[in-house]
Amino acid sequence: MKATIIGTGRMAKGILNVLANAYPGEIGLYSRDFKKAESLIKECGLDAIALKEKDQFSAGIIIHTLWYRDVLPWVKEHEEELKGKILVDITNPFNDNYDDFVIGYDTSSAEEIQQLIPGTTVAGAFKNTYWVVFDNPEYGGIRSDIYVTANDNLCRKKIMELLHPIPFRVFDAGLLKNNRTIERMTLLEKELATKAGNHPRVSFHLWGV
Ligand SMILES: NC(=O)c1ccc[n+]([C@@H]2O[C@H](COP(=O)([O-])OP(=O)(O)OC[C@H]3O[C@@H](n4cnc5c(N)ncnc54)[C@H](OP(=O)(O)O)[C@@H]3O)[C@@H](O)[C@H]2O)c1
Repeated sequence: MKATIIGTGRMAKGILNVLANAYPGEIGLYSRDFKKAESLIKECGLDAIALKEKDQFSAGIIIHTLWYRDVLPWVKEHEEELKGKILVDITNPFNDNYDDFVIGYDTSSAEEIQQLIPGTTVAGAFKNTYWVVFDNPEYGGIRSDIYVTANDNLCRKKIMELLHPIPFRVFDAGLLKNNRTIERMTLLEKELATKAGNHPRVSFHLWGV
């Protein structure tokens, strides 16, 4: 199995769609309710594997799609199972009004999670990708960007390789601390897109690179 996705919400569906199309039969999907994972795969018409609880950590790369408040206790609960794995973190630490973050400028979701599970390599990705963008990650011929971060060079390389075939522009965005910027870009993106009346079909494309 190339990777496992945890959760069956909006982001899980988007990520499952692009990855299972790139790697038929090689992507696992785990839900706390097995039937939800089975029916999402069926609904999307994908060749992916609904995973039982005991198999949710069997792949080397695990992409969680939990909210920030939920992922902190979740990583602590599963610290042992996550040891030696790559955990891809997609969270933005929104407050209840989704207009600011619950953590300061001197840290990020990805760094907070990495601190909690030192035996796991945390990578950041998909932070600025709103769920509807997965349906068509191109706007006016311009592709949506994904910024991949991790403190370990090999881990970044592995995630870049995994994401290479999906229809996004994927960047090596350096160390986890860059998520202090990347995560906050989502706040700016949301504010500007809401003003323009185009939220949530919005993303970043860094021009000139
Ligand atoms: N929405 C966006 O456009 C967007 C964009 C970029 C980043 N993000 C980030 O992506 C994350 C998910 O967003 P979303 O919109 O996809 O949320 P969502 O639709 O509410 O999905 C969250 C999923 O998390 C799973 N989950 C919740 N608590 C869990 C637990 N304790 N253990 C295991 N699984 C649990 C649930 O799956 P099951 O019920 O199947 O277990 C649920 O489907 C958030 O952290 C958000 O900041 C979202």
